[in-house]
Amino acid sequence: MGRVVVIDHPLAQAILTALRDRNTKQIEFRKGLVRLGRLMGYEIVKSMDIETVEVETPLGVKAKGVRIRDLDHVVIIQVLRAAMPLVEGLVKIFANARMGVVSARRVEESHIPGSLDFDIEITYVKVPRIMEDDILIVADPMLATGSTITSVLKHVFKYGNPKRTIIVSVIATKYGIERVLREYSFAEIYTVAIDPEINEKGYIVPGLGDAGDRAFGGP
Ligand code: URA
Repeated sequence: MGRVVVIDHPLAQAILTALRDRNTKQIEFRKGLVRLGRLMGYEIVKSMDIETVEVETPLGVKAKGVRIRDLDHVVIIQVLRAAMPLVEGLVKIFANARMGVVSARRVEESHIPGSLDFDIEITYVKVPRIMEDDILIVADPMLATGSTITSVLKHVFKYGNPKRTIIVSVIATKYGIERVLREYSFAEIYTVAIDPEINEKGYIVPGLGDAGDRAFGGP
């Protein structure tokens, strides 16, 4: 069922603070997103089903342990290009994940002054088949208006219906979260912060600026 998880781990919060800092340069910014991807992956694992198993150690003694069956059923979709470092971190946790990409662009000219919504142009979709026991993780570092993620989900669900749908965003807004949950009430949103505002250009405030430009260079 739909839910929002705000990761308040001090390490995640400290990394986010560095990402917000305008003085943080491109390489450090990208590294920060990778580290957050890994931490957010740990947090997702906490909600996965665990089964008890028994192994025999080199001492010939039995030891009880756990197996996380869901780890073999993860599909990660990255929204190009800003999600690339975040996914690099997620893959360190979900090493067996099947992966897909979606290229999405806000059509700036479609923006009506006073409105928060944008048209989204999807120019490339490559997604593996999604099975009913899969956990789908869609990574996009900034969940601002929800226009991009709802368009992406519409395309991704053409490839199948997963057991769970998790959106991984470093910063979200209440507006974006409500929009996603209105359209996809079962979605689970993992984020490190919920920021209060979206400005007239669609940027999250205080936010961290344009995540793609800061990670890869840009105007
Ligand atoms: N995308 C970004 O990169 N930054 C924002 O603030 C909003 C959307």
